[in-house]
Amino acid sequence: MTGRLHQKIAIVTGGAQGMGAATVRRFVEEGAKVLIADLLVDKGGALADELGENAAFLRHDVADEDSWTEALGCAEQAFGPVDVLVNNAGVMHWGAIDELDLERTRKLLDVNLIGVMLGAKAVVPSMKERGKGAIVNISSVDGLRGVNGLSAYTASKWAVRGFTKSLAFELGPHGIRVNSVHPGGVDTVLGNPMGRTGDELQLPYRGFRCNGSVSRRRLPTSRSSWPATRRATSPAPRSQQTAAGRQAPTTRAFPAPLKR
Ligand SMILES: NC(=O)c1ccc[n+]([C@@H]2O[C@H](COP(=O)([O-])OP(=O)(O)OC[C@H]3O[C@@H](n4cnc5c(N)ncnc54)[C@H](O)[C@@H]3O)[C@@H](O)[C@H]2O)c1
Repeated sequence: MTGRLHQKIAIVTGGAQGMGAATVRRFVEEGAKVLIADLLVDKGGALADELGENAAFLRHDVADEDSWTEALGCAEQAFGPVDVLVNNAGVMHWGAIDELDLERTRKLLDVNLIGVMLGAKAVVPSMKERGKGAIVNISSVDGLRGVNGLSAYTASKWAVRGFTKSLAFELGPHGIRVNSVHPGGVDTVLGNPMGRTGDELQLPYRGFRCNGSVSRRRLPTSRSSWPATRRATSPAPRSQQTAAGRQAPTTRAFPAPLKR
């Protein structure tokens, strides 16, 4: 380990499981103190217990503005002013447009997009005061392309990408870096809710395939988000600090055999 996050204070949303939990573990290994913010009380609490004094858990809903006030207060009280926010919480569902469920779709946008905005709004005042900070928004490779059957999710991830680039311009002059990470398929509850293995992993994609073959390779969780997140949180050259947010795709960086 490099200790690159020594004494950094971070909030990781959706940190109780999947890529969020992998990020939390790695942040702590690298010297950070992390508030795990998630709806999943049992998993989040267990992870905080396992990681000891450098981690704390708060039941948190990214879509609720009051919950953000609480999360910020909790992180500051437990560890100090927040240096890094990882907006990782997300939900995904498949569906054709003529079967669009409005309530479910609004909820998806609330979590995947509004939650990211509320998170930035919550941490920015104290980051501005200190003239530094990093916001890492977990988009997706689906924020760089289209996917048949995932139009709502894809729209939310493109929106996160656009939000990130604009916010990077806004906050760069204040010394705050804003970047998005675009992971490829990762074997988590979100990416593989049925726990499918082997060829069955492609089943949801087959249902919506209209031309050609669909290739989505899944990486084991432990290798998923951290390396790109580390790139995104690492000090950028001065010239990049005011430039549009970098987008870090992870699929190419870590090719791995299909594996559950
Ligand atoms: N798994 C993939 O293939 C993949 C690929 C690209 C991007 N992503 C993105 O990575 C992020 C993490 O996904 P994952 O695969 O680890 O999924 P996951 O389902 O394992 O974890 C998502 C976490 O977000 C939490 N969450 C959901 N709604 C919340 C809310 N309102 N408030 C707080 N927490 C909430 C869940 O409780 C869960 O712990 C998501 O933003 C997802 O869109 C995933």
